[in-house]
Amino acid sequence: MSPLPSELAYVPFVSVENMMRLVHHLGIERVLTDLADRIEADFLRWELFDKTPRVASHSDVGVIELMPTSDGEMYGFKYVNGHPKNMKDGLQTVTAFGLLADVDTGYPKLLSEMTLLTALRTAATSAMAAKHLAPKAAKTMAMIGNGAQSEFQCIAFKAICGIDTVRLYDVDPSATDRCAANLAQRGLTVVACRSAEEALEGAQIITTCTADKQYATILTDNMVGSGVHINAIGGDCPGKTELHRDILLRSEIFVEYPPQTRVEGEIQQLDPDHAVTELWQVISGQVPGRTAARQITLFDSVGFAIEDFSALSYVLAAIEGTEFFANLDMIADPDDPRDLFGMLQRARD
Ligand SMILES: NC(=O)c1ccc[n+]([C@@H]2O[C@H](COP(=O)([O-])OP(=O)(O)OC[C@H]3O[C@@H](n4cnc5c(N)ncnc54)[C@H](O)[C@@H]3O)[C@@H](O)[C@H]2O)c1
Repeated sequence: MSPLPSELAYVPFVSVENMMRLVHHLGIERVLTDLADRIEADFLRWELFDKTPRVASHSDVGVIELMPTSDGEMYGFKYVNGHPKNMKDGLQTVTAFGLLADVDTGYPKLLSEMTLLTALRTAATSAMAAKHLAPKAAKTMAMIGNGAQSEFQCIAFKAICGIDTVRLYDVDPSATDRCAANLAQRGLTVVACRSAEEALEGAQIITTCTADKQYATILTDNMVGSGVHINAIGGDCPGKTELHRDILLRSEIFVEYPPQTRVEGEIQQLDPDHAVTELWQVISGQVPGRTAARQITLFDSVGFAIEDFSALSYVLAAIEGTEFFANLDMIADPDDPRDLFGMLQRARD
């Protein structure tokens, strides 16, 4: 019989089922709020992280990406895809998993599902950015694109920014119906709309979260009045945007990591030296966020590796002392580190 793996061989693994149990155990609003706090805290130490644009492998129908970063103590990466055509085939547009490792030994410390965690961290990041940029009295959000991410966005904006009304629109009315039904009894007034224009009525925050592998125009210039905050989620790949260029020219633009956003975000439509502000600088008080009531603020979100690092760190701390993980025998760890072959040999005996 093979000898039992050593303690070091085991890596905590959070499956989709355990992620769901963890979220229900803590409560989704608390998870979103805690995640936003964790991401904000990591944005405050932005400068000490390793930063690189994500490594993308494009095909005609989608993209597969690796998103690495490290704070010098822990290293993390996420695998994530984006395939807008998947939904029509009954598959998720975005799926993901990720890993955290100890920089000192290189041994993994956590392997986790990240499809749910990406939706949670994206919503937490959006709401955290809006807390700094949106009009303070904002109560109504237009939610355009009512797919997998949409309920997470709505709940995060309620929990973190105090939104009390969401106005939903999707080209597919059944998506709006599902989103509205899922948001019932969550303390939000939910209004299903028949057009993007109708969804924008009275909204101080506009979230665009559609999926289409093209330069789309979800919002045209005339639809966007002064003083709003735009949270643009779906333009996150070369050749995949949601806003008309003229809106960008009227907006104060805030981004995660310019070298990545200039390739992937809405600002791929602008000159490469168009002025943008890095969100971490607003959070750290180095530069102001919104400076005038009539200003249009735009968070050109593409999703950056540090947000996933924060999310994985949060999960690692949250599962401690719980049953919401399984130990995976993932690292070959022979007693004599040079006797890897002997370990294999003994497993046959
Ligand atoms: N910025 C980030 O960090 C981040 C993170 C996750 C996902 N995303 C992006 O967010 C987008 C949404 O992801 P998802 O998982 O919810 O996708 P999804 O496929 O589940 O939903 C997209 C929805 O958009 C709708 N839609 C398409 N074109 C539209 C239009 N013109 N007007 C209104 N609605 C329209 C579709 O009918 C669908 O319901 C994707 O583009 C994804 O790549 C970004």
